[in-house]
Amino acid sequence: MKKTAKITRKEMVKLLNEDLAREFQAVIAYVVYSQTMKGAKFQAIAGELKKHAGEELNHALLIAKQIDYFNGTPVTVPKPVKMSAKAGAMLRFDLQNEADTIKAYRTRVRQAEAMGEYGLSEVLRQIIAQEQEHLTDLADALGIDNPKIGE
Ligand SMILES: [Fe+2]
Ligand SMILES: [Fe+2]
Repeated sequence: MKKTAKITRKEMVKLLNEDLAREFQAVIAYVVYSQTMKGAKFQAIAGELKKHAGEELNHALLIAKQIDYFNGTPVTVPKPVKMSAKAGAMLRFDLQNEADTIKAYRTRVRQAEAMGEYGLSEVLRQIIAQEQEHLTDLADALGIDNPKIGE
């Protein structure tokens, strides 16, 4: 494992707010995509995306709680959500977002542990496990292998 520099609580709040904006983005994407996805062969995955929406909302609550713990103020604006009428494009947008999210949280776990914030790293690890399930659901629906997440 790479050595991670210890960051300040203020810096951690800034990074967690980027994570929160990404969770809001995920909530919106899964709400909209699950309800607008067309095509008989996409109905099963549309049902999965609906479940993801609820899980992403829970992640947003967990991250907002951690931001408050560090005396920060949670952001209220999501990262931009891409839209398409095509189910395949929606799934690829979600897949890319999940890969970016997992990569960010892996870094965040290392940063939390370098700070000695094991409560935070525990919460992040639980979220990562669920994001990996989301990634797998999307890759399966697209008929591809799970993409490798870069460091
Ligand atoms: Fe999430
Ligand atoms: Fe996710």
